[in-house]
Amino acid sequence: MLVLGTRPEAIKLAPVARAMAASPLFEPIVVTTGQHREMLHQMLELLQVEARVELDVMRERQELSQLTARLVEGLGETIRAERPDLVVVQGDTTSALTGALAAFYEHIPVAHVEAGLRTGVLDNPFPEELNRRLIGRIARWHFAPTPRAARHLTDEGVPASEVFTTGNTVIDNLLWVLQEGVGRSVFRPDSGLRRVLLTLHRRENQGNKMREMGKALRRLADRGDVEIVLPLHKSPAVRDALLPELSGHPDIHVVEPLGYLDFSATLAACDLVLTDSGGIQEEAPSLGKPALVLRTTTERPEAVDAGAAQLVGTEPEAILAAAVHLLDDAAAYERMATAGNPFGDGHATERIIAQLAEDFGADADAVPASDALVAPHADGTGPYSTA
Ligand code: UD1
Ligand code: UDP
Repeated sequence: MLVLGTRPEAIKLAPVARAMAASPLFEPIVVTTGQHREMLHQMLELLQVEARVELDVMRERQELSQLTARLVEGLGETIRAERPDLVVVQGDTTSALTGALAAFYEHIPVAHVEAGLRTGVLDNPFPEELNRRLIGRIARWHFAPTPRAARHLTDEGVPASEVFTTGNTVIDNLLWVLQEGVGRSVFRPDSGLRRVLLTLHRRENQGNKMREMGKALRRLADRGDVEIVLPLHKSPAVRDALLPELSGHPDIHVVEPLGYLDFSATLAACDLVLTDSGGIQEEAPSLGKPALVLRTTTERPEAVDAGAAQLVGTEPEAILAAAVHLLDDAAAYERMATAGNPFGDGHATERIIAQLAEDFGADADAVPASDALVAPHADGTGPYSTA
């Protein structure tokens, strides 16, 4: 059973659902929690598997405690009715945490995709850092995207035999989508302007901080040589903060959330990414797009270490200065654009599927054959192997 409720979970579990549906060893039962409504629905076709159960828990501006309570109850009933052999959750949302918790209460083992991300600060990002730490206590399979994420888990006492470094499934999906479909960039064609793609949604930035960030970004657009595209999260708290600051400017295009094809085409067309999103921090380096991370912490320091991303914080002047620097300094821009992607080789899903198949006792001959299942280093040490 694949439990998913938000946009990034659908994107990152889509390759797993597709691979399970294509394999005789698995029957994927997709359960959507309804944590997101519009933003989830526009992603579901990526799964190529119909949702069997759709919970309907989204309420405007509901408290996290209400969302959590509704989900544990609804997912518990769903798991009792379907009796899956395995529950798969992804990442660190409330849907993921409650999926893992409800599975635990029904004695169903849990696999955690994108395990081991940590900032080390319990309430930043809020509440995701707590969510992923708790899922790390529940899961039996921890599919870590990078060696560093795997190390976090073993440092916390998770047995190394339960931790598998796979790469991030977001890369599998991005490469698949860029190959499969033709999306449309929403930047103006041939404007001659530098193209900045902006997304903001994190809870810890909402309110006054996000308004101030909005003001700084408006000043960036005032340069006159920049076009900013902002696909705006559906969250009313985000809209309250950003719409007054960013609407009505000729070089700022505030658009509704984009479908994945159009979003990836827009990302591919941009010059610079400004974001507080997790997934976009992973996708931007794959497409050679420098990313400025508008947060005070990141659980994805691999991109910063590689030189593909910069953690610029949330202070308006610092954001503006970092963006101006990259737009004006061609050498600094080029260094970031060519730093490369540390989040995977596009074969994470195959590693996940093979491991689950093996641990559920599938005949080795029945496991889908793939060169990618062989660790890429000649000595077999990884980076993709058990921790
Ligand atoms: C959630 C996740 C966050 C993830 C983000 C991805 C939690 C606690 N947070 O963020 O980790 O990065 O999703 O986008 O799980 N809304 C709609 N339509 C939609 C989606 C949202 O109207 O399609 C509105 C609802 O009023 C909802 C609000 O936005 O209450 C916020 O949605 P929520 O799921 O709580 O989003 P975040 O917590 O911001
Ligand atoms: N995304 C999208 N359309 C948009 C904005 C984002 O398809 O308008 C995709 C993006 O490519 C990435 C994911 O949504 O894969 C990130 O979602 P979000 O920022 O909401 O969540 P996070 O990754 O921060 O949890």
